[in-house]
Amino acid sequence: MSIEKVILVEDEEFLRKNLAHYLRGRRIDVAAVETIEEAQSYLVRDNFDLMFLDLRLPDGDGTEFLKELNLRPSKPLIVIMTGFGSVESAVDCMRCGAFDYLIKPFSNDQIDVALKKAEKFTHILKVNQYFSLSEDQESQNELIGKSRALEQLRQLIRKIAQTQATVLIQGESGTGKELVARALHRLSPRSSAPFIKVNCAALPENLIESELFGHEKGAFTGALNKREGRFELAHGGTILLDEISEISLAMQAKLLRVLQEREFERVGGTRTIKIDVRVIATTNRKLDESVEKNEFRQDLFFRLNVVPIHVAPLRERVDDILFLSEIFTRRFVRKHGVAIRGVTPEAQKVLLAHNWPGNVRELQNVIERAVILCEPESCIDPETLNLEVRMSRGSAKGSDSNELNSTSSGQDQPFMTLYDVEKLHIIRALELCGQNRTQAAKLLDINIRTLRNKLNEYKGQLELESNSSENSNAARKEAVESV
Ligand SMILES: Nc1ncnc2c1ncn2[C@@H]1O[C@H](COP(=O)(O)OP(=O)(O)OP(=O)(O)O)[C@@H](O)[C@H]1O
Ligand SMILES: [Mg+2]
Repeated sequence: MSIEKVILVEDEEFLRKNLAHYLRGRRIDVAAVETIEEAQSYLVRDNFDLMFLDLRLPDGDGTEFLKELNLRPSKPLIVIMTGFGSVESAVDCMRCGAFDYLIKPFSNDQIDVALKKAEKFTHILKVNQYFSLSEDQESQNELIGKSRALEQLRQLIRKIAQTQATVLIQGESGTGKELVARALHRLSPRSSAPFIKVNCAALPENLIESELFGHEKGAFTGALNKREGRFELAHGGTILLDEISEISLAMQAKLLRVLQEREFERVGGTRTIKIDVRVIATTNRKLDESVEKNEFRQDLFFRLNVVPIHVAPLRERVDDILFLSEIFTRRFVRKHGVAIRGVTPEAQKVLLAHNWPGNVRELQNVIERAVILCEPESCIDPETLNLEVRMSRGSAKGSDSNELNSTSSGQDQPFMTLYDVEKLHIIRALELCGQNRTQAAKLLDINIRTLRNKLNEYKGQLELESNSSENSNAARKEAVESV
């Protein structure tokens, strides 16, 4: 983060003029003054990033001034300038909170070193301030799961993390997109630099530009001081643009420039700021569809979608459900200090059968609630999970159980035979288990051979049916044939 504004307090004219000239040559705004009084009047009016302070001044002692500055809520970093004879007082100043000191006479190289140090320090300071302000920091950032889909996802993350490529992570809400983004940063060569998240959906339109790019003092009503944006904070690291689909077309145009040129200006500013940032974006909407509807710029979509990652919904990763449940149970048992022995086999079946529209986030919440409600020293049972009601509602999404529900309620449909009900139920179990027959048999609590026999039976029947009603049965036929 560059040092842009410096105040220089030095009564020796030659040194003051030379130093001011050198700093201005580095595009730094300089206020050069001779006395403490003048310095004070500047500090009331403006914010400075750095102060070069002489110790012996006409109207007082620099050390005292430093102590006074320390009492202020915001002060510039202070670099003491002192003669060779008074190194000790410079060291004292360091104890009193000075940032650095230079012994006169000093070279331009020494000034550069002090500036570089100050830039680094300011960056770390601002990033820390940002983190202390940011929402709940999740300590649990590990991507847990043992399904093939998750294993492939981990492999992909490891591969992509090494590159600088912009990544677009798509997937339903609660699937773990943010965890994927954090893992990409953690495993990248940028891992020691900041990871900065911007929730594009949560920021109001009038704030998002200054949040992303920062603003200069007085850029708008309420902009009392200059403020760095999140792109600047992320310099050297990674920025996560969460829910990117939610930004306006005007902001999309500005983002496009940053992605193309890696530079921007703060709101109300003219200075072009260059950054080195890896961009990761997430969305739970289908961005290509937003492009078709002219809600999202196609050129920005292409820029973001250099490396696409799709995180599968939990219902398609059945192998992860019980695995995650077990880990979450242990985690929440520890968190709430309760004694729970585990999850009953019946409750496991309910977990497997649920459709999980809220994905891992929903599973996490269900387990936490169950851990809290469960009787001490017992196991979580279906009743404690309290998922049955949602099972029928949730599972309505794109599955045959719709048909099952409406038929059993007897509305406008011919009454279904027991044979058909069983067939639809088996097909639904297969869908839930990602067409994994062993899992489906477990879920249905039948022998795998029984399942196989039934499927062969349906297959024969579907082939007969398909001649008459090709389309309506296509999906079901596919489900049966894929096993
Ligand atoms: N594979 C996983 N292992 C462990 N925890 C997970 C996993 N996937 C998601 N979670 C947890 O589920 C919750 C939701 O995850 P995350 O915020 O990454 O989802 P998201 O896809 O970004 O959702 P949204 O689109 O709603 O922002 C978090 O608490 C996260 O820790
Ligand atoms: Mg998210």
